[in-house]
Amino acid sequence: MINFAPSVLSADFAKLSDELNLLERSNITYVHIDVMDGMFVPNISFGMPVIECIRKVSSLIFDTHLMIEKPERYIKEFADCGCDIIDFHIEACKDIPKTIKKIKSLGKKAGAAIKPKTDINDIIKYLDELDLALVMSVEPGFGGQKFMPESLKRVEKCADYISKNNLKCELEIDGGINLLNVKDAINAGANVIVAGSAVFKSSDPFEEIKKYKKIFSEFT
Ligand code: DX5
Ligand code: ZN
Repeated sequence: MINFAPSVLSADFAKLSDELNLLERSNITYVHIDVMDGMFVPNISFGMPVIECIRKVSSLIFDTHLMIEKPERYIKEFADCGCDIIDFHIEACKDIPKTIKKIKSLGKKAGAAIKPKTDINDIIKYLDELDLALVMSVEPGFGGQKFMPESLKRVEKCADYISKNNLKCELEIDGGINLLNVKDAINAGANVIVAGSAVFKSSDPFEEIKKYKKIFSEFT
């Protein structure tokens, strides 16, 4: 089963509620929420107050991608404001096992994310404990960047480990996904697909989502 996780980073923030509603009308279950602190990445997006507001108008699964320094400081806050999956960057976190446990103890799914240039084994060693692993296919910080094809091998390596060890861990790919490369990402083993600009910057997001869903249906 492939889950599509459109990223609201590329949505119109003035009408976030409508954008989320559009996803629900498209029978999407996940929404990807990019939190940036201007430190871990050179950009600032939004934080808990915004997530708390959109939680009230949406029952989508909030897949929250924390691009922040020392994410362990804010796990409870992100759990309390309504996130369902909390993905922190392994590069930013001092105590990874403790942070995974903390997320789970709050009843949330624990995800970890890895930047394109970090050794992929640095996340593989935590796959047994994780609910989701997020492999970045662009440098984190901005929507609309070009897909890094070398990420496919990294996804494959994680997928291999997950299947060999019969793990439940979901495998997410994030950055530069479009209609031309999405099949490659799925073939590499990704089962949660993030797309920001490809959905929300298109002239008709509703129709665009249908095209992705058609591709996903070929894999089920
Ligand atoms: C980048 C973010 C991505 C971004 C994806 O730092 O983590 O989730 O929104 O946007 P696109 O699909 O436009 O690359
Ligand atoms: Zn993201």
